[in-house]
Amino acid sequence: MTKDRKGFSTRAIHDGQEPDALTGAVGVPIYATSTFQQDELGKSRLGYEYSRVSNPTRSRLEANLASLEGGIASRVFASGMAALSAVCQLLKPGDHVVAGNNLYGGTWRFFTQVMPKFGVEFTYVDTRGAECVEAAMRSNTRFVYIETPTNPLMLLTDIAAVSKVAHARGAEVIVDNTFLSPYFQRPLELGADMVMHSTTKFLNGHSDGLGGVIVCSTEQQASDLAFIQKAYGAIMSPFESWLVLRGVKTLPVRMKQHDVNGRAVAEFLQRHPRVEKVFYPGLADHPQHELAKRQMKGFGSMICFETGSLENAKKVLKQVKLCVLGDSLGGVETLISHPATMANASLGAEVRAKIGLTDGMVRLSVGIEDVEDILADLEQALAAI
Ligand SMILES: Cc1ncc(COP(=O)(O)O)c(C=O)c1O
Repeated sequence: MTKDRKGFSTRAIHDGQEPDALTGAVGVPIYATSTFQQDELGKSRLGYEYSRVSNPTRSRLEANLASLEGGIASRVFASGMAALSAVCQLLKPGDHVVAGNNLYGGTWRFFTQVMPKFGVEFTYVDTRGAECVEAAMRSNTRFVYIETPTNPLMLLTDIAAVSKVAHARGAEVIVDNTFLSPYFQRPLELGADMVMHSTTKFLNGHSDGLGGVIVCSTEQQASDLAFIQKAYGAIMSPFESWLVLRGVKTLPVRMKQHDVNGRAVAEFLQRHPRVEKVFYPGLADHPQHELAKRQMKGFGSMICFETGSLENAKKVLKQVKLCVLGDSLGGVETLISHPATMANASLGAEVRAKIGLTDGMVRLSVGIEDVEDILADLEQALAAI
């Protein structure tokens, strides 16, 4: 854990974002270079030799994100999926992973279609119950991998309870914290061992770059993942690193507004006669509302709602004007999507049915526009049902 006790907003703006030592530039420079001059054979300046191994802009972002999540280091990659693949390179044939059964579709695709080829086995469980995780643990279980809240059903996992179960069996817990960002949830403080993000989402916040991060709680993880960066090479570029450094400065103010707008939209949808059900941990009738209040510092702006049928979902998605129909989340603009055919299509109809993900569901990533405008857009779109 970091010893730094400055406030979160101060750390977002200053940690890793110190003025440039050489020029005083307040904005972190983009070190657009593949290689670095060595003063003599084997003698580099400040340890930088080749940008796949390390780059000063990337190092600044890694310091910043480690500070925000309360880790000892972080390693950034070319996308969220690249970060996930990198951490999975720490596994070997014969290892076993216990994972949540409601995962982002890309994660599901990677776990079910790529990792088994390398001899790693997975058991998928409903991680809402720590006892389900415990029952799935084996002597060769290395990781417990969870998303909380899940994408898109907004189900929660008790990170502290699952970490206790995993640690008792010598496994490490990895939490995909993409939906909430460290502003609202810090899994390492609750006992998790590593945190994963698609920085593409709230950390960047402006829908203009792809990236991923693994935040580490031990020196071993940090050095193993630095080796994977060097050996595997799917690192974040200096420019993309800079975009996240710039975006993350406003993470706290953005998240506060996302949360205010998210709550207002969830309440509006809950009252709306054409909406059958709303999935949002901030609503008092969410079955895990108490856990949400305990584990999260805000409810965020990811909402899923049931329109009743694929036809109804299609009508709403066709009718929206302000909300952007697109396959992402976490930007300043409100994004709307259809989980069954977009982010979660790769689960397949059978798995979707099993976990209760229907064709009538619509997912919102509520942005930070004037909330009256978002509500008016949804009102006119829902009228099409
Ligand atoms: C929860 C979650 N995790 C991981 C990812 C993968 O991130 P990326 O698209 O940056 O590879 C996504 C992408 O949508 C996501 O929503």
